[in-house]
Amino acid sequence: MPGFGSLDTEVSDRKLPVEGSIPEWLSGTLLRNGPGKFEIGGRRLKHWFDGLAMLRKYAFADGEVRYSNRFLRTETYEEAMAGRISAQFATGVGGIETLGRWVKNLGPPEPTDNANVHVARIDGEYVAQTEAPRWVGFDGTTLESTGEFAFDDLFDPHVVTAHLVEDPASGDLFGHAITFGRTHEYHLFRIPDGTRRREIIASIPTGKPAYVHSVGVSEQHLVLVETPLRIDIVQALSPFNDGFFDLLDWQTDAERRLYVVERETGSVVTSPTVEPFFTFHVANAYDDGETVVLDLVAFEDDTIVEALSLGAVTTGGFEDVPPGRLTRFRITPDGEVTVRRLYTGGTELPAVADAYRTRPYRYVYGQATDREGANGLVKVDVERDTSREWWEGASTSKNPARSGGRARPPRTTASFS
Ligand SMILES: [Fe+2]
Repeated sequence: MPGFGSLDTEVSDRKLPVEGSIPEWLSGTLLRNGPGKFEIGGRRLKHWFDGLAMLRKYAFADGEVRYSNRFLRTETYEEAMAGRISAQFATGVGGIETLGRWVKNLGPPEPTDNANVHVARIDGEYVAQTEAPRWVGFDGTTLESTGEFAFDDLFDPHVVTAHLVEDPASGDLFGHAITFGRTHEYHLFRIPDGTRRREIIASIPTGKPAYVHSVGVSEQHLVLVETPLRIDIVQALSPFNDGFFDLLDWQTDAERRLYVVERETGSVVTSPTVEPFFTFHVANAYDDGETVVLDLVAFEDDTIVEALSLGAVTTGGFEDVPPGRLTRFRITPDGEVTVRRLYTGGTELPAVADAYRTRPYRYVYGQATDREGANGLVKVDVERDTSREWWEGASTSKNPARSGGRARPPRTTASFS
């Protein structure tokens, strides 16, 4: 399947062939990050999220696009070049070897520096990110790594988001992190524009921390979605676990709350309980009076996480996964939640234009996943409930874009079957 094979070559500023045409007015650079190599020392990695971080740059100007790619030079990369796998998301190095690392480190192995998830710009520096708290700087022109990114604070989380959200008004970045301890806590933080300092806005204790990939950010609020996919702390402390993937456990009896937090004060406005669903990605959030609107891609369960293991994607198991659904939650200050679907098709990787983040908006773009290969693009008009899809060689429009939307009773949400 495209996207799951290894790429060993690095190129610099290569002019790409173009089918159709690129608008003359389009200029700028798109930087991307992601797993690029899946075999190390002759061994296939276990999960897509374990692939070695590779940066890509698409530079648009004068109707042309020029492409560069470069692996992030990290400790994980150096180990890989020597044929050794470092413990990562799912591909562990085996019990005895892991135990050896514990002894060597007098504690848990160092978190991975294979920052292969996303990129951000913090205090003017380009940063490659992952959910382990080790991020790596790079040069936005050459893509050369510049070493581990150092925050100017004492915050020391165990898990951190790779999806920071920038408020277009202030330039501040918002994100979340998790710490394990006597009490486990979710943390919501702000990185003020022009600094590399994470200021904690709110810390929310939890008995069983959920795996949280991204949070909602509106002009006044932050929303953290607690799904049934929990991090097993006891297993985390075992030297015999096989990476982060081993620690994730779908627990429908665990608490599942939507925490709505006031950005300015850090107070929890409301935290209604919702029915089980899983999500990686929030598309956007905004305030509608005192109601918070949260748009995200919801899965009926966590099958998608297992499905992205490389064994599954290469045997066709990926196609059986229940699709992600673009879904809108409206949350009132007294905890009433209504839910409606915004688009009938399967989708993931939602994005809105930077200027509309945290604000009312009309268009969300995403990957369309309903056909084999999941290689479509979709633009959903959330105001008019229409959508337009592009697949290789064809585009289709749909009207209406949604179906099955209906009001929900207070404190409940839909199931996503
Ligand atoms: Fe993501």
